[in-house]
Amino acid sequence: MIKITDLEKYYRTEEVQTVALNKLSFEVKTGEFVAVMGPSGCGKSTLLNILGLLDDPDGGSFLFNGVEVADYNERKRANLRKHNIGFVFQSFNLIDELTVFENVELPLIYTGVKPGDRKIRVEEVLEKMQIMHRRNHFPQQLSGGQQQRVAVARAVVNHPKLILADEPTGNLDSSNGNEVMDLLTDLNDQGTTIIMVTHSEHDAKYSHRIIRMLDGQKVTENVL
Ligand SMILES: Nc1ncnc2c1ncn2[C@@H]1O[C@H](COP(=O)(O)OP(=O)(O)OP(=O)(O)O)[C@@H](O)[C@H]1O
Ligand SMILES: [Mg+2]
Repeated sequence: MIKITDLEKYYRTEEVQTVALNKLSFEVKTGEFVAVMGPSGCGKSTLLNILGLLDDPDGGSFLFNGVEVADYNERKRANLRKHNIGFVFQSFNLIDELTVFENVELPLIYTGVKPGDRKIRVEEVLEKMQIMHRRNHFPQQLSGGQQQRVAVARAVVNHPKLILADEPTGNLDSSNGNEVMDLLTDLNDQGTTIIMVTHSEHDAKYSHRIIRMLDGQKVTENVL
């Protein structure tokens, strides 16, 4: 599903240039559950943003289902993204002005799902994430754990083929965290490909393979 080769990303500020990804290469097959680990600043979020078509690389190749997308412009990226990818961000990235229901509904609006069907699908996923009773609340009125459950609900409501999760349990207590990991495992069992960034060895054990990074490069890869 994904094949990156010598992927590069630089950030330039006035004084310094940071190499966020330094010729990074790996492959992820359809149906896999892969964990990405490594110290703070090693490029994990940068990688996920590029894999999620939110950002473009400065060099290298990125094949998505066999198609080269490294040079896609924003419009083409957005189009591919909305039909294929669900994103759980490190910070929840919920829209403050929208209710829980409306936040989760958004991806379905983008892909043209009709209002009646939207209601059924949003309620189904809110039920599953045990956040239905907060459907009319705004994000600021929720705890961190509740916000993350809404963020996961939003990522999965469109039944994406690929879920990218950036520390999905980072702000959760262990019981809420395990719930999120169980949900990701269920989705993976149903065929969804998952790439998850985590600092937690416990969470990484839910995956099939761990890719460890340092300074924008891959250092090891181990199959569990
Ligand atoms: N928008 C930006 N402008 C400049 N530098 C950036 C930007 N985003 C990231 N960086 C730099 O790129 C490097 C990689 O950042 P990234 O966010 O990918 O790290 P990370 O592995 O996700 O870290 P963490 O575990 O703390 O989330 C860091 O050195 C960071 O300072
Ligand atoms: Mg990060």
